[in-house]
Amino acid sequence: MKNNIFKENSRSISNACDYLTNNEVIAIKAETVYGLAADAGNRISISKVYKLKKRPIYNPLIIHVNSIDMAKEFAIFNNDAEVLARRYWPGPLTLILKRRKIKIVHNDAVAGLDTVAVRMPNSKIFLKIISFLKKPLAAPSANKSGYISSTNANHVRDCFGHKVKMIIDSGKSNLGLESTIIDTTKKPYLIRRLGIISKKEIFDSTGLKVLLKSDIGNSKKPNSPGQLKKHYSPKTPIILNVKKPGKDDAFLSFGKQVSRYPSSLNLSTKGDLNEAASNLFDYLRRLDKLKKNKIAVFPVPSNGIGKVINERLKRASVKND
Ligand code: TXA
Ligand code: MG
Repeated sequence: MKNNIFKENSRSISNACDYLTNNEVIAIKAETVYGLAADAGNRISISKVYKLKKRPIYNPLIIHVNSIDMAKEFAIFNNDAEVLARRYWPGPLTLILKRRKIKIVHNDAVAGLDTVAVRMPNSKIFLKIISFLKKPLAAPSANKSGYISSTNANHVRDCFGHKVKMIIDSGKSNLGLESTIIDTTKKPYLIRRLGIISKKEIFDSTGLKVLLKSDIGNSKKPNSPGQLKKHYSPKTPIILNVKKPGKDDAFLSFGKQVSRYPSSLNLSTKGDLNEAASNLFDYLRRLDKLKKNKIAVFPVPSNGIGKVINERLKRASVKND
């Protein structure tokens, strides 16, 4: 079958734009994870995104822009939102803003909501394609709904085969975890999804207070519509905080204190949490392919990015009903 993974170069970028203007979807790298991208105003391609991912239609997509000005065409920034965008864009921060209903962002891309999640990714390929098209791109993570996000081109093909016409291979997503999502439409501002940019980092650099659901004692309230409890899950059950795996387990370890087991991968032998984050989804996918009884996971410290890694692992380990 014809290869659908292409190197990043001017020809593949121009072909990608042709696909996008012809109602297709393509997969491209963001600094966080790979995205399945469509013209945000194109109803046909948006419906392809939902179908490919088997994503419920009530779960809105993030709209990617190449500038704050482009975002302002379809979203309303209050002062604080603008401060955040100016500080963190391009980068792994998504802002939920009030939406202007205009057709460059189709209703179906945002599940008909009157808010919209927007970000400017720190990814050359994303920014080039948006600039070429002069249109924002709707792009969820390039994985089947509920499965582990993709951090390289092969992951995308493992998920969708040749149903995605074009996957541009720009190497590995360097951060490896999805963007932090902050709702700025009402106070207190809430973090709807944890990511690399933390509440402390935001406070230290902008003085703005954003809260976690747990801070307001409201942990039962649903998060973003897509933040269903079970997520990021391999097919193999995951068991957390295991120091000694069983002989038939796959083992995801961390740090140098762990000796070698067969069927094991180490997130970071140096104990570096950034390295662990960038390896997390790839290693979960690789261990899943071994089809063992379970994937046992060594404890990962919960400081800094470790908190986000543990949140993703916890959700991946939630059992099916
Ligand atoms: O790093 C990322 O954010 C990646 C790359 C490709 O940019 N994208 C990504 O998209 O993770 P996705 O679709 O996998 O996750 C988007 C999340 C979902 O949980 C969705 O419910 C939430 O954003 N979301 C989108 N629009 C929203 C809105 N208006 N209000 C609340 N949550 C929203
Ligand atoms: Mg996702």
